[in-house]
Amino acid sequence: MLSNLSEWLRARLDETGEEPAYRRLARLLQQAILSGRLASGVRLPSSRALAAELGIARNTVTHVYEQLAAEGYVQSHSGSGTYVADTSLERLRAEPRTGRRPLRDHQRLSKRGRRTIEMAGVSKLQWGAFMPGVPDVTEFPLKVWNRLHNRVWRQIRPELMTYAQGGGYRPLRRVLADYLRVARAASCEPDQVVITTGIHQSVDLAVRLLCDVGDEVWVEDPCYWGVRNLLISSGLKAIPIPVDEEGMNPSPRHLARPPRLIVCTPSHQYPLGCVMSLTRRRMLLDYAAANDCWIIEDDYDSEFRYGIHPLASLQGLDPHGQVIYVGSFSKVLFPGLRVGYMVVPTSMADFFAQGIAELYREGQMMQQAVLAEFIDEGYLGSHIRRMRGLYAERRGLLIDAVHRHYGDALPVFGGEAGLHMVLGLPQVRDDLAVSQAALAQGILTRALSGYYNSVRTMHTGLILGYACVPSERIDPAFEVLAQTMDRFMPSAA
Ligand SMILES: Cc1ncc(COP(=O)(O)O)c(C=O)c1O
Repeated sequence: MLSNLSEWLRARLDETGEEPAYRRLARLLQQAILSGRLASGVRLPSSRALAAELGIARNTVTHVYEQLAAEGYVQSHSGSGTYVADTSLERLRAEPRTGRRPLRDHQRLSKRGRRTIEMAGVSKLQWGAFMPGVPDVTEFPLKVWNRLHNRVWRQIRPELMTYAQGGGYRPLRRVLADYLRVARAASCEPDQVVITTGIHQSVDLAVRLLCDVGDEVWVEDPCYWGVRNLLISSGLKAIPIPVDEEGMNPSPRHLARPPRLIVCTPSHQYPLGCVMSLTRRRMLLDYAAANDCWIIEDDYDSEFRYGIHPLASLQGLDPHGQVIYVGSFSKVLFPGLRVGYMVVPTSMADFFAQGIAELYREGQMMQQAVLAEFIDEGYLGSHIRRMRGLYAERRGLLIDAVHRHYGDALPVFGGEAGLHMVLGLPQVRDDLAVSQAALAQGILTRALSGYYNSVRTMHTGLILGYACVPSERIDPAFEVLAQTMDRFMPSAA
């Protein structure tokens, strides 16, 4: 047995490679045990004998035996040697189910996992003309950030390096509360602010704490696919509510059946861009209070409003504490930062602070500390002002390019705020085909129809982001896009 085993091992140990001898020996013995070459109960050669046979140090063999014993491959009995452990599955194996066909990969997912993947809308490309929703990250004031970062690291304290206390870094919650009171007319104190990794996590937390599987949630139709997918993946039943120029517009049939949750984008409807009217806001707030519904106000990009000041939030109008306000630094700074925040009613603040700590064990306090100083020293305000000017210029250039090519033949809407606009394509039935053809020419767009929940209500068009496109690239990129679009709607050319 010794000579058989050592011959087999020697042949393989001699292969050249980077792997150290002890690791290679351990791997070979594991292989021999798992494949049955070394059956359970077999006594392994002593470390001295095996080392001599293989011409390696005895220590190496001892070390390997100890490692194999720790991982359960062998058992050492002091004085009597090392034996292959019984790792056979026979004792555990249930009766094989007969007639069972092997599952395809997607069938191995849960039902909701499969739905999540089937509905997935995320793009592999995140940068270039006309990627919607992406700010110009090259304009981010890196030097300032680095300076603040270095300063914070010089004053490092253990509390900043552990898990965050529920809710996030206190000074960041304080400066955010001040900012939101002024910029959004939000009604909030620092305790109500919970720092998250972005709107996706904020919505996820709210859903986990406020909803049960099977609850109904109203979503705008059309709406942002990311949040819709998140809600459905969490086991909620999404009820699409049509959107008109005043925002979400539930019918009497909808109103007769109150949902548990209402998710909306009142300051800048995504993706169409309309603003929810005051009448609609008051109606929704009264309805939510009377029917015990929660409202999530997704305020993802309305810092960038061109012409007038950013609008007041729905949360600031809410006398009953039904609104969970969620915001993000993804558009105002950069998406990879992954910092967002929520403002929750005072009565729920402790639950949310506890909930986020419990579910996600959040951290990144150092980054939160840098961000707090960035805001406190006025850099957030100046960055937003500067980017607003830049994006207004790019938005203007894109609208000019559309008009030059198509006059008034194609409607442009939703460009009064944010980082994108919608170019309607009423003559085109398959806007996805246009978007894919544009992608083949290196131009990124999103098909409007993909944001609708049903074919009945669907409109076609392209969502065009202009924020991350250098001004001088807008005309040439639109030229390429227009050539592609013309292939699908010759009458508009
Ligand atoms: C309407 C809307 N909400 C939320 C998000 C995502 O926000 P975050 O990056 O903070 O998760 C987006 C991203 O494009 C969005 O368009």
